[in-house]
Amino acid sequence: MDFTGAHIVSIDQFERPDVEAVFSVADRMQPYALRQRVTRVLEGAILGNMFFEPSTRTRVSFGSAFNLLGGEVRETAGFESSALVKGESLQDTARVLSGFSDVICMRHPVEGSVADFASASRVPVLSGGDGANEHPTQALLDLYTIRKELADRGRSIDGLKIAMIGDLRFGRTVHSLGKLLRLYRDIEVVLISPEELSLPEDIVEAMRLSGIGVSISDHLTENIADVDIVYSTRIQEERFPSKQQADLYRGKFRLNQAIYTEYCQPNTVIMHPLPRDSRSDANELDSDLDNNPNLAIFRQTDNGVLVRMALFAMVLDVVDRVDAHAYDVRWYNARQT
Ligand code: NCD
Repeated sequence: MDFTGAHIVSIDQFERPDVEAVFSVADRMQPYALRQRVTRVLEGAILGNMFFEPSTRTRVSFGSAFNLLGGEVRETAGFESSALVKGESLQDTARVLSGFSDVICMRHPVEGSVADFASASRVPVLSGGDGANEHPTQALLDLYTIRKELADRGRSIDGLKIAMIGDLRFGRTVHSLGKLLRLYRDIEVVLISPEELSLPEDIVEAMRLSGIGVSISDHLTENIADVDIVYSTRIQEERFPSKQQADLYRGKFRLNQAIYTEYCQPNTVIMHPLPRDSRSDANELDSDLDNNPNLAIFRQTDNGVLVRMALFAMVLDVVDRVDAHAYDVRWYNARQT
């Protein structure tokens, strides 16, 4: 794939060498993300960061990644404050905003909307999630995290066994991650969800066709004994017709330290795209896991910045100039102490 000027709207765009290329550039971003070095390579560039659905980490992670490369961020959040409420089409918004920006990140509740927007944009568009469809940059940061966590255990992604748990029907992160795993060998995936919230059939089919061993269950503890990763997800309440319908499934698959100790191998990695629903009736990932060294959820968010820096650098074609525009930090760096 030619990254220069590319839109990133689906994991289907990626071949394995493309993913490896993103990961190797992400590795090189570490000194900048850790604030050991500062680069100004994107000085003068503007990111239009447009989020039409709630977001904390994805929005701020895209923005921070762009800032860390020296660029400026201009944000629009929510429909109410945009001209979309006046009936403007997404394509017109794209025609306008791409005149002000060098790259655009976008999250929108409608499936396919980010690709529609991209089709009218004059600058690259990176998806931050389109409804219940896909979340490609999350899948890349998830797999980058999996790669690092397994490397620490002397393993590679090939041969991975992962349990995906929770709302697999509406959860766009597992849709993209399932697709991404098709590029690897000897993968086994255990899908654990209520039947009504199972992973869409077309994604399951595509995974099986690529050689992934897929098993399906609605029972948690029986299925997490021999996996490398448990990947938990939130019930996507906002995609249900009513809160009451979401309530039927909330809290069904809780993981806490006692369950982990009893049913998981002692080094099983715990992941979640976040936010985890910590309300007592949900509590899918208990805070008593917070001191468990295998809880990788905050390493995931840190890795997200590296992966998004890599994507910006590749799409804007500055990978080989990042270091030439860099200097050491001048200020007290709390992260190094
Ligand atoms: C996810 C999302 O928005 O799809 N969050 C994220 O981007 N890290 C998952 C979720 O909201 O449950």
